[in-house]
Amino acid sequence: MSTPRAWINEIGQYEGQEVELRGWLDNRRSSGKLHFLQVRDGTGTIQCVMFKGDVSEDVFTEADHLPQESAIKVRGTVKADARSPIGFELSVKELDVVSRAAPDYPIGRKEHGVAFLMDQRHLWLRTARQRVVMAVRHTIVKAIRDYFDSKGFRLVDAPIFTPAACEGTTTLFEVPYFEMGKAFLTQSGQLYGEAAAMAFGKIYTFGPTFRAEKSKTRRHLTEFWMVEPEVAFMELDEDMDLAEDFLCFIVERVLESHAKDLETILERDVSKLRTVKKPFPRITYDEAVKVLQAAGNPIQWGDDFGGDEETILCSQYDRPVMVHRYPSELKAFYFKHDPENPKLALGLDVLAPEGYGEIIGGGQREEDFDVLVKRLEEHNLPREAFEWYLDLRRWGSVPHAGFGLGVERTVAWICGLHHVRETIPFPRMMERLTP
Ligand code: 4AD
Ligand code: MG
Repeated sequence: MSTPRAWINEIGQYEGQEVELRGWLDNRRSSGKLHFLQVRDGTGTIQCVMFKGDVSEDVFTEADHLPQESAIKVRGTVKADARSPIGFELSVKELDVVSRAAPDYPIGRKEHGVAFLMDQRHLWLRTARQRVVMAVRHTIVKAIRDYFDSKGFRLVDAPIFTPAACEGTTTLFEVPYFEMGKAFLTQSGQLYGEAAAMAFGKIYTFGPTFRAEKSKTRRHLTEFWMVEPEVAFMELDEDMDLAEDFLCFIVERVLESHAKDLETILERDVSKLRTVKKPFPRITYDEAVKVLQAAGNPIQWGDDFGGDEETILCSQYDRPVMVHRYPSELKAFYFKHDPENPKLALGLDVLAPEGYGEIIGGGQREEDFDVLVKRLEEHNLPREAFEWYLDLRRWGSVPHAGFGLGVERTVAWICGLHHVRETIPFPRMMERLTP
């Protein structure tokens, strides 16, 4: 019978048994008759102990000279070990070298600057820190889908090539498009989500979105993932209920499976996530301006919130804060204006605590045909490109609302990362297109 292959994160199932591990040499140290090989297989790292007397002389010598990142198979017995961070180690009997690594692996044990690490992103992903961040991202994406699926939302995939702007014309990426001349990479699936909500009642779109933002901030990527629910016959208050419930679900899911790794590997203070419970504070833009002014910020009514303002605002609360009813001048063409004060748009931003800022943007859409035509004109948008969108107001228009949650900003907040660049495997930013 051949030795069963085991994955390190499931090694406990094999205590006392002989298994084969397949992975990479992460680190190594020796003391005379013993080699300690740290082996990593993508699910975790385990110490493999090689006694000189247990293996052939050739193998023992080879192990003493193997460079970091060499690909290996090790066979041996799983032993419980109280000193091990994972509770187990392997007593090695055999070692096969699948591929001997080149010397001088660029990511050594010393501290590296972020620019260097970003250039080595394809290798940097192999570290424990990146493994945890990507695992949390995976759990967040899964939680997003589970949340909407369990509530009967239909998943609708919006196109990536689009004919028109959704979130303003200044951040469009243009690409050549056959005889038609050009297309734009989607900034948001929302307009298609609205069509789908009129077809299926409650839907969500989920995919990559693109913004040619000339912002080099810690919150901006040019390519990011966004989930966008949209619901027919729903107004702003219910939209806020949905956003709040959804965020609590995501945080709870992450805490269920990653609390220990967040604390030990990312040094995240998870007590700050445990306070993320309903209800979230709901404040109007007017109130938010007063909070900012009281904190000494020079903002005036009508100004948009930048990173600084968001940081101040969200740091006042121990859970996300929902800011609603922004000056309509600041918002996209599709927002419904507040019937009680047309200067205000029925928009909603959710700001994550601890200075992380906006993670959700959304609100109620204009459902009236004539008003929407007027808005397109005011925003200098070409009506022809939006005729299909106007159709939604011609045939059975209803109040409807939704929002978009940015995955990377959510990962940054939950993992406690200063910058969004580490929240996506291969980030795209103004000045980064490689690897
Ligand atoms: O506030 P935004 O621009 O809203 C929309 O796109 C709406 N159409 C969504 C909707 O109502 N269906 O973007 C929504 C979220 C932001 O709150 C943020 O989390 C994320 O998308 N986001 C970005 N994330 C990373 N880099 C960028 N450049 C981002 N721009 C927006
Ligand atoms: Mg926004």
